[in-house]
Order: sequence, then C-alpha cells, then structure tokens
Amino acid sequence: MAEKILIIGACGQIGTELTEALAGIYGAANVLATDVRDSGTAPEVPYQKLDVLDEKGVFETIKRFKPDQIYHLAALLSATAEKNPKLGWQLNMDGLFYVLDAALEAGTRKVYWPSSIAAFGPNTPRHATPQYCVMDPNTVYGISKLAGERYAEYYFKRYGLDVRSLRYPGLIGWKSAPGGGTTDYAVAIYYDALQTGVHNCFLREDTELPMLYMPDAIRATLEIMHAPAEQIRIRSSYNLAGMSFDPATITASIAKHIPGFNSTYNPDFRQAIADSWPASIDDSHARNDWGWKPNFHLDAMTADMLLNLRSVKGVGAGA
Ligand code: SER
Repeated sequence: MAEKILIIGACGQIGTELTEALAGIYGAANVLATDVRDSGTAPEVPYQKLDVLDEKGVFETIKRFKPDQIYHLAALLSATAEKNPKLGWQLNMDGLFYVLDAALEAGTRKVYWPSSIAAFGPNTPRHATPQYCVMDPNTVYGISKLAGERYAEYYFKRYGLDVRSLRYPGLIGWKSAPGGGTTDYAVAIYYDALQTGVHNCFLREDTELPMLYMPDAIRATLEIMHAPAEQIRIRSSYNLAGMSFDPATITASIAKHIPGFNSTYNPDFRQAIADSWPASIDDSHARNDWGWKPNFHLDAMTADMLLNLRSVKGVGAGA
C-alpha cells in the first residue's frame, strides 16, 4: 500500500513546491495538503483547512488520516515574528508540540520539520559556520527554531520518533511567494529586475547571507526523508548550504542579463536580524551522512529564475 503523506503549511513558500513534488512521488490521492488558508495551491491534491494552533483539529486530522509521513512547515518567519513575538513563539512551538505528540499517538513513521540559519546568533562563527558551535539566536523565530531542534532530538531519543530536519538558508524560488523572511529580498529583486529595472533593498549591499535555490531545497528535503534512518546521525537539524552572496553580488549577477539593472539600499529593522546570522555554512555533515550536494550556484540560479519568471509566470511581459 502506498505511503500516506500529510503536509501542514502546504500553501507557503516551501509547502507549495513540496506538495507538488510529493504528489508526483506518492500520487496526489495519497497526499493530504493542509494550511490555514481556505483553499490549496495544487487542485489535484486533496486539501483540508487546518490551523496548526487548533490542537484538537491537528490531533483529529492526524488520527483520521493516519499519515506515514508528516511535513510540518507552518511557521511565522523571522521578520513577521518580530512584529508579533508572542504569536511567533506560540505558533512555532505549540504547533510543533501538537504535531509531534499527535504523530506519536497515531504511529506516524517519519516527521519532517524545518529549522533555519536563524537558529544561529551574533556569537556564532560567521564564516563556514560549523554544525556544532555557539548558538545564541536573538530573534523569536531563531529562538523557536533552536528550541524546536532540541525537542526534535528529544522526541527521537526519548520516544523513538523519527524526526528529520534541515537548517535551511534563505530560500529562493519562482513558483511561490516568500512569507515574511529577512532573506526575501533575494526573491523580490528578480521581480523588480523584470518589472522596474531597480530594486530598493532593505539590507546593506555587503550583507552576505547563505542562500539556496528552491529546486535544491526540495531535493534536499526529499533526500533526507528518503535516506535510511541509520544515515541520519544528527537528530536536531543538519546544516545545509547552497551558495552565499550579498545584495551587491546578486544585483551584478542579474545585470549580466538585464544591462543597467541596479539596486538602492535602505536598510530597515531586518538589517539587525541579518547581521546576527551566518554569512556561509559548513554542511559537511549533510554531505557525509546522506550524500547532500547542491546543484545551483548564483549565476545558474539567476538564469533559471529570470527564464521561468518571464516564460512561465509572464513577469515583466509588456514592460
Ligand atoms: N528565510 C528565513 C527568514 O528570513 C530564514 O529561515 O526568516
């Protein structure tokens, strides 16, 4: 019998693309996409409205659907959570506990839950940030991710729940919109390049951050979930890297395709968040344990983003 897959937060930046990928692997009928929104993003995939803060709803859904795998993606991201710190903590932590406890109760085989580079902090080594080092996050989002990592490992060790996790860098894709992160400028900049020819950046031009192109992020997620359990030696969350760049460098990469494209810089409250995060990540544990290897570097991503935004999404058409 085919495995059953539950996605929570299916309409977000990652959820939209992951739902499509999982439906392709397991068959749309074996996937249940859920989100707080009224309707889903993939018409062929069964959809149910579910608020992850609705404890009863989460337990009932998991008990009834009996998923073999759960992908729990619902979260408030860094910038949004700073605007509403109480809700950020509640949604990110209570939601995680409901899912972990309901998964245990229902005998779910595997749970995926994402962490982030936000789990690091100002005293973390900034370059080639190692898997194990000082982690002193100073955003609500980062604090919730670090706490969640500790609980992921706790549920694995104490209850044997097969929880797997990646510390995503900033994620960049053309199929779905980002939702309130500090790295979101690196998506908006492509739209601006095609629509207006200038990007007003909320970070300084030399703010280097780790980033990953969405096809690589989706592949990493599927690879860690499909790896034999004994290869997953880290049960908190794996460092994961693709590329690192600052706003000036991505602007130059785009200008190779769109001559004259330029960015202006007006840092806001997100600058302090970015300054507390790593500039680059050492992901050797992921490479060694389950064979991780990114495909996309900056220029290849830029070419692919511009091509797809133009030809599939029609961004900039007629401009
Ligand atoms: N992209 C996320 C954010 O900026 C990092 O996990 O919040």
